[in-house]
Amino acid sequence: MTGIGEEPDGATPLDPDELEGLKFKHVTTRGELNALEQANVESGLIWLGRRRKNDVLSEEFVRELHRRLFGDVWNWAGTFRQTEKNIGVDPVQIGMQLRMLLDDARYWAEHGTYPPLEAAARFHHRLVQIHCFPNGNGRHARIMADEYLRHCFDHKPIDWAAGHDLMNENKRRDEYIAALRAADAQNFSLILNFVGADSFDA
Ligand SMILES: Nc1ncnc2c1ncn2[C@@H]1O[C@H](COP(=O)(O)OP(=O)(O)O)[C@@H](O)[C@H]1O
Ligand SMILES: [Mg+2]
Repeated sequence: MTGIGEEPDGATPLDPDELEGLKFKHVTTRGELNALEQANVESGLIWLGRRRKNDVLSEEFVRELHRRLFGDVWNWAGTFRQTEKNIGVDPVQIGMQLRMLLDDARYWAEHGTYPPLEAAARFHHRLVQIHCFPNGNGRHARIMADEYLRHCFDHKPIDWAAGHDLMNENKRRDEYIAALRAADAQNFSLILNFVGADSFDA
């Protein structure tokens, strides 16, 4: 499967076992895979828009959302990663780290620890840093952050792409990855700027 391994900087390559989980065996290029995933993400967003429940800070929802976004393409969608990646905690730590993050995010919302966009940016960063799934973590965690804003802060979603395609190399993606790397080093100013958390909105 030439081409599928050609990821932009800041993406996590799939290992052979994970590639085995691809439900479309004819896929040969990254472009084809992106299109299949994109169609799946769109149907997942329709499911999300119709969903009646509003508990977003649960492991069950985190996994269900991933399955709805990627389950037509990957048979491991919605199940936690079992392999080490260049990004992410040790796979055995995922469940516990996620529980701590969901507890923290609930606490931030209940106590007004951070303004909404800062809470969402911190939530997003921690979620991609845990890297729950073999792939799709960035897209899933951006939607999770928007759902956190909506349900816990009654706040509009973040304009992540700002007219660009965050899945391909461009200036916006470079800024996004640079902001996450700064946040890895506990410097949150770039990610706050990226999500538009300027003083009066934040
Ligand atoms: N240094 C980093 N720290 C935290 N998260 C990162 C870092 N670099 C990249 N990421 C996140 O990981 C995502 C890539 O992981 P991946 O599972 O391939 O997601 P997707 O398939 O949705 O792009 C990026 O979109 C970004 O959200
Ligand atoms: Mg990816």
